[in-house]
This record gives sequence, structure tokens and C-alpha cells, in this order.
Amino acid sequence: ASYDTAGHAHFLIKEISEQPAAVERTLSGRVDERFATAHLGGLNLDAREARAFRRVKILGCGSAYYSGELGAQLIEELARIPAHAEPASEFRYRNPVIEADTLYIAVSQSGETYDTLAAVQEIKRKGGRVLGVVNTVGSAIARECDGGVYLHAGPEISVASTKAFTSTAVAFALIALHFGRVHDLSPADGRRICAGLKALPGQIREILAQEGSIAKLAAEYAQNAGMMFVGRVRGWPVAREGAQKLKEVSYVHAEAYPASELKHGPLALIGPELPTVAVVPDDELVEKNLTTLGEIRARHGRVLMVGHTAPDPKYAEDCILVPKNEPELDPILLGIPLQLLAYHAAVALERDVDKPRNLAKSVTVE
Ligand code: AGP
Repeated sequence: ASYDTAGHAHFLIKEISEQPAAVERTLSGRVDERFATAHLGGLNLDAREARAFRRVKILGCGSAYYSGELGAQLIEELARIPAHAEPASEFRYRNPVIEADTLYIAVSQSGETYDTLAAVQEIKRKGGRVLGVVNTVGSAIARECDGGVYLHAGPEISVASTKAFTSTAVAFALIALHFGRVHDLSPADGRRICAGLKALPGQIREILAQEGSIAKLAAEYAQNAGMMFVGRVRGWPVAREGAQKLKEVSYVHAEAYPASELKHGPLALIGPELPTVAVVPDDELVEKNLTTLGEIRARHGRVLMVGHTAPDPKYAEDCILVPKNEPELDPILLGIPLQLLAYHAAVALERDVDKPRNLAKSVTVE
């Protein structure tokens, strides 16, 4: 098939704009409001098997790894199963211990990333069970896995992943809901998550409507040599992905740190020449996050806060507000403005947006 940008300036902004529909497809037919759970037939696990796993290990590279970090948090929060994400590339090189009571989940948009495929093959060689969260139907990783969830996000052409990242996080929310409901997640909480999932496409549309104001901020922030991205817990994988997106498409240097780690070293970098993007969900950590922003402002660092409530200007000079969903699902929404920020920074700097230098859409070699 051949694809065009359908009137958009680049595939990247086309794919960012397609996210409401991509998320609708990821959710389609999978949310069961009556029983407050998710139906994921492709997992090939009955309730007893789904209960038997004691741990979940998620593997992927780059943005797939960061979306896996969001997935690990969702699984821990909703199912209370210890879950951890690791770069598939590191995992395969360290002679990993494969455990019978661990469920392995490989994440890949293309389904062809060699490091992720090699990790899956190593797990299978050692008798482990691997599921795939994959966008491309029939791809090598999808075929190698014992089951999984297809994203149905549609083809992603731009080298920088956007809609696949968001759809992966949504797929993990479904997996976490499903595992939660075979463990101890209450029907009431299950229903709360079902309703939150259904609200996502409309809320993503609301964020996309702010493109004009985000483009203005991006053009300003892109003039700096670098940027710091911070977040705590739910905001942390979002900050990592935001920094990666900015680096990939604008070539502006970006560092991502957990907000709580700043004072253990990188605070030394903060000053007027290094602005910070802070991902601040409205959760039980919001006060802690605002304190960190106050520390940055005290060192004359400019702060752009991405959150749900406008902060006092003493914490952030600029802000982008996103609608509030359920606390567990808010990170999915908080990531969207960071994609627009990276895209418009790249446009302002006249970069090769869809084909950044030195990068390939999928890394199929070692
Ligand atoms: C995403 O913006 C990157 N280009 C890259 O990190 C990508 O996510 C990674 O290479 C994994 O690709 P995959 O999802 O196709 O396996």
C-alpha cells in the first residue's frame, strides 16, 4: 500500500492527529462495562493461568520500552502484580534468569526490532511464556509470541513513534484491567477504569485542539541548547518519552530525570539557560512535584508544566493543561502535548521531521 500525508505537512503530525481514532481501535470490542473488565482473547490465558503469574517483565526498545514502563505501572497499580520494564536490548545481552512464574511481555510497533525479537527467542529457548503487544499484524515478533494484543493503531510511517506509543499504553491499561479483575480489583474500580478508557479519545481531541498555543511555546523553547524533562512515578515514563521525542525530531538535547532525583545531581545543571518540562499529574504527589518546581524556579530555571490545573506562577512560567481522567490513566493524556511540543520544535528548527538523521523506523539488525 502507498500512504500520503492526507493534507498534513508531515506524517508525524498526521499520526499525532490520528490518535483519537487509533485509541478507539485499540479499545474496540475489548471494554466490558457490564462485568467491569477487558476482553483480550489473544492473550490465550484462562483466569486460572492469568492468576498464577507472580511477576511481569516487559521488554521493548526506545519508545516501546518507555510505553512498557507505563504498562508496568498500570499492572502494578490495577492488578498488584510486581511488574518491571527493561530495554530488550540490555536484557538479551545479560544472560537473563527466566522464571516459570513470570509473564514476559514484548512491546513493538513494527514487530521487527531485532533486539526485541532476540529477547523473545531467548525467553522461549529457556521455556518462558511471552506475550506480544504489537502493532504490525503477522510481524516476526507477533509470530514468535505465545499470544498477545494487537494495537490496531494503523500504519505508522514517521520514524518517531507517537500513535503506537499511546495505543500501547492503552493496550496495557486493558491488560492491567483484565489481570486486575482476575485478582483483587473491585467491580467498582473496574467500572471506573472502563469509563476512563472510553473517555480517552474525546479527551485526546481536546488536547489536539491546543496545537496552536503549544506550537508557540515549542518555537520559543526550541531556541535553547537543551531541556530537562522531569516527572515522579506516573509522570516519569511520560517525561522519558517526551525527552526522547524532542531529541529524535528536533536534535535539541534533552535529559529526563525522575523529579525526586534532581537534588541528587542534575540540579547543578539548572539555570536560566536550561529550561525544564515538568509532567505533573494531579495525584497524591502533586505537592511534592510543585516543591521541586519551586526549587528549579529558585535557580532561575524556566519551567513549562504539563498538568491538569494551572499552577501558581511561582512554580511555572508556562503551562499546558490536559483534561483529567482517572489517576491511573492520566499519563496517557499527559504524553500527547509533549509529542506536539517535539513536532513543533522540529518544524521551527526546519528539521527533517519524518526522517531524522541517523535513525531508521525499525532497527532490524543487531
Ligand atoms: C521511537 O520514536 C523510536 N524511533 C524508537 O525508539 C522505537 O520506538 C524503537 O526502535 C522500537 O521500535 P519498535 O516499536 O518497532 O520495536
